Amino acid sequence: MAVISTQDYLIEICSLPDSGLNSWLNENCSNAKVAILVDENTHDFCLEYLLTSFTLLSEAEVFLLPVGEENKNLEICTQIWGALSEYQFGRKDVIINLGGGMVSDLGGFIASTYKRGLSFINIPTSLLAMVDASVGGKTGVNFNQLKNLIGTFAKPKAVFIDPAFITTLPIDEIVNGYAEMLKHGLIDSLQYWEELKDTEDWNVQKLSVLIEKSVQIKNTIVEADFLEQGLRKKLNFGHTLGHGIESYFMDQSFQISHGLAVAYGMICENYISFKKGLLSLKEMQEIETVILSHYALIDLKDAEIEAIIELIKNDKKNEQNTILCCLLQSIGQVLIDQKITEREIYEALTHLKDLNFNLN
Ligand SMILES: NC(=O)c1ccc[n+]([C@@H]2O[C@H](COP(=O)([O-])OP(=O)(O)OC[C@H]3O[C@@H](n4cnc5c(N)ncnc54)[C@H](O)[C@@H]3O)[C@@H](O)[C@H]2O)c1
Repeated sequence: MAVISTQDYLIEICSLPDSGLNSWLNENCSNAKVAILVDENTHDFCLEYLLTSFTLLSEAEVFLLPVGEENKNLEICTQIWGALSEYQFGRKDVIINLGGGMVSDLGGFIASTYKRGLSFINIPTSLLAMVDASVGGKTGVNFNQLKNLIGTFAKPKAVFIDPAFITTLPIDEIVNGYAEMLKHGLIDSLQYWEELKDTEDWNVQKLSVLIEKSVQIKNTIVEADFLEQGLRKKLNFGHTLGHGIESYFMDQSFQISHGLAVAYGMICENYISFKKGLLSLKEMQEIETVILSHYALIDLKDAEIEAIIELIKNDKKNEQNTILCCLLQSIGQVLIDQKITEREIYEALTHLKDLNFNLN
């Protein structure tokens, strides 16, 4: 078992029955109502394991969310706030978020706002949520086609990561989570990047080791700057352009997952880092080659590039109409609050488009 202690809560990485979840439930839920938030997939693939492993949860209310990022919105929150009120949940009651990042972002937001805050714990079931979304205390929903525009900083009471949930995760979702892991290497550790870049083996044992490393990196950064005044912004590498791409496709006939959008965002921000003379050609090409070996590109149209740029101009990370971004200095070293121009974004998205053209 790996235990990562934060200033305020515990993160455990091990099989759920061996974890401290049972003691946590006994301490906090013996006299409390419990709501378990699941989406349709985690309802089908993960809920039974949780319910059969912990008898204390047999009376829990299960709230079912529709699958997909497009449902991380205020309408769904309103329905869940309504259900919590109907079941007379009070301040001492508890929400368990059992799912990927969509469930933990939405569930954390619902918990942190209902009656000014209920306790919640995260049990992440996707790789992306295990290595990133479930830890760090950011919650939120999308609004007006903009990613996570409304949200809170709210820490879970505990995070229990059981890598075995990965066995039912489709391979595309594993590759999504891998994007955030690559990001952890790029922003913090050349050694971790080296270990990750040749990984093709997604078995639970191997992933458990990598999950722990990613969580350690994320947690150390978050602990130093919980409210994202400085250092924590490092974690946004790939996310300025990535969120623009993800947001644009949220409204289209096909969606792009968060992990894939971050992979595209990293290709673009890597390219901008090189064009601005911050990153060497050799490292820029290495990063691009590793990302391209795992992610299929898309055919971006010129009109789509323009629309994505408009969305990026509205990104919540911008300050005083200046587009800010994280740029790489080398693998393992990132600079925060770097000003980038619309022209540079245009060139980076065009580079992404040309890569696809050249590969086909
Ligand atoms: N709060 C943060 O710090 C933070 C960090 C990174 C990402 N995020 C957010 O996380 C979200 C992306 O997370 P995600 O990729 O986990 O999305 P997701 O929750 O939509 O999960 C992806 C898919 O995997 C399915 N799934 C999850 N666990 C499963 C399992 N064990 N077996 C089978 N299917 C399973 C889900 O039903 C869904 O279809 C985005 O909304 C992003 O903004 C938040």
